[in-house]
Amino acid sequence: MNFLGVLTCVSVLLAAASTQAPKHCVSPPLMSGQFTLMAGNGVYLSTGSISSDAFGKRMRVRNNVMVGNQSTGIDELMLFNEEAYYEINWKTISCKKKQLDSSFIPMHVPEDARLMGQVIMGSSSSWGMGVLVNTWYGTLPNNGSYSTVFSEIGCIPMTYSVHYPQTGWITLSTYNWVLGNVNPMDYHPPFFCQKAKLEVSDMPPNFFTVLHSLALQSKKVKH
Ligand SMILES: *[C@@H]1O[C@H](CO)[C@@H](O)[C@H](O)[C@H]1NC(C)=O
Ligand SMILES: *[C@@H]1O[C@H](CO)[C@@H](O)[C@H](O)[C@H]1NC(C)=O
Repeated sequence: MNFLGVLTCVSVLLAAASTQAPKHCVSPPLMSGQFTLMAGNGVYLSTGSISSDAFGKRMRVRNNVMVGNQSTGIDELMLFNEEAYYEINWKTISCKKKQLDSSFIPMHVPEDARLMGQVIMGSSSSWGMGVLVNTWYGTLPNNGSYSTVFSEIGCIPMTYSVHYPQTGWITLSTYNWVLGNVNPMDYHPPFFCQKAKLEVSDMPPNFFTVLHSLALQSKKVKH
């Protein structure tokens, strides 16, 4: 097929995709990717890796923040079905189990999310120059509002933003996703978590505020 032929095919595909109303889609069951989190007007930045299981509604997040030549050694296992998450500290071999607000689950577009719009990020002029994406928005408990961008094809999450009066904007970009997970143990807490008792709170953190607090902890290590 020549270049023009490819172009026509892509245009037809894009046209076909855009004539259907975007769906509240669910991401592929198992995925691995990377993220960058920005909060506090750019003051708090962290990067790391994500393993996600849309079927079991579980996510493992590892922070790669390097402070000098040291990393924080903390990672998080979020179990949305159990409404709990583990904060795992590999430096001190200690573990906390805390309550998780599961009102926002990042592996799908929430059922009550509203469509802000559909755009092509990049260019639609040739194959490989752009990605068709849908932007969704909605509200969260405690005066939060979010928006999130998923690709139309594949339902791959690209960015999440949330705003709380207390924290301002927290923005999470995810990228380099591949389908599948390398290590099934990602979704099981390590042995030293067995004794951790669930800590409940009046206002349990959600997906966004858990990541935010992790970024803040990385910041503290810097002093
Ligand atoms: C890490 O950094 C500290 C201080 O910055 C230094 O003393 C130490 O030798 C470094 N360790 C390695 C393995 O580079
Ligand atoms: C949410 O906003 C309302 C109205 O401004 C306020 O009364 C309430 O305290 C806020 N709740 C939180 C958790 O900030």
